[in-house]
Amino acid sequence: MQIRHATPEDAPGCLALYAPFADHTPVSFEHGAPSLEAFRQRIVRVSRTHAFLVAEEAGSISGFAYAGVHRERAAYRWACEVSVYLAADARGRGLGTALYTTLLDLLERQGFRTALAGVSLPNEPSERLHRSLGFEPIGVFRRIGWKAGAWRDVLWLTRALGPESEEAELPPPPGPPVRLDRPIDLSTGGMAQPAG
Ligand SMILES: CC(C)(COP(=O)(O)OP(=O)(O)OC[C@H]1O[C@@H](n2cnc3c(N)ncnc32)[C@H](O)[C@@H]1OP(=O)(O)O)[C@@H](O)C(=O)NCCC(=O)NCCS
Repeated sequence: MQIRHATPEDAPGCLALYAPFADHTPVSFEHGAPSLEAFRQRIVRVSRTHAFLVAEEAGSISGFAYAGVHRERAAYRWACEVSVYLAADARGRGLGTALYTTLLDLLERQGFRTALAGVSLPNEPSERLHRSLGFEPIGVFRRIGWKAGAWRDVLWLTRALGPESEEAELPPPPGPPVRLDRPIDLSTGGMAQPAG
């Protein structure tokens, strides 16, 4: 199993595991799975500004994690949102933790200061994953979306990236996305250092 940056060619594998969540569950708030071309473009767009990682085993995509813009206005530019999805047979053995740990490290090196995640309730595995990686709950938006036949509540969580010191001057904005210098091979337990 390896973690690496996604390419547009990974879209079919990512979409295959993501589509059921978008089609049938409140885990994703998309009303139906995007097209293959839209998912390809999503990988390209996210990779230009943040990071889109996949976990791959023997040519098959077991999961992905990515980050995106939190809000557009300038003062929010140090904040980003993160998300992670695994195939059913890849859950519960640390892969979500490995993908997120890698993603958060890249985002911190890029210069982001805050990661945010929205978890549609209930989702105990996701809530546990976020809390175990240091995310703290902010609050619950009640009945914030209609999905899969009901109004849904979303728990928002936040985690600091990098130093939490008070700056007297404008901190540098996040730079271009940081790339792994090579894929991370999880079978050897080795965590490669991302390139600076
Ligand atoms: C949420 C998800 C990414 C978690 O990834 P994972 O690889 O299964 O999680 P890990 O094995 O790394 O475990 C992380 C933590 O969650 C806990 N956890 C994992 N699966 C769990 C389950 N089914 N029930 C309760 N806790 C669970 C682990 O015990 C661990 O907690 P700990 O560190 O306190 O012991 C995965 O279950 C998934 O893809 N679910 C479907 C899609 C989804 O919900 N995505 C999140 C959208 S917000």
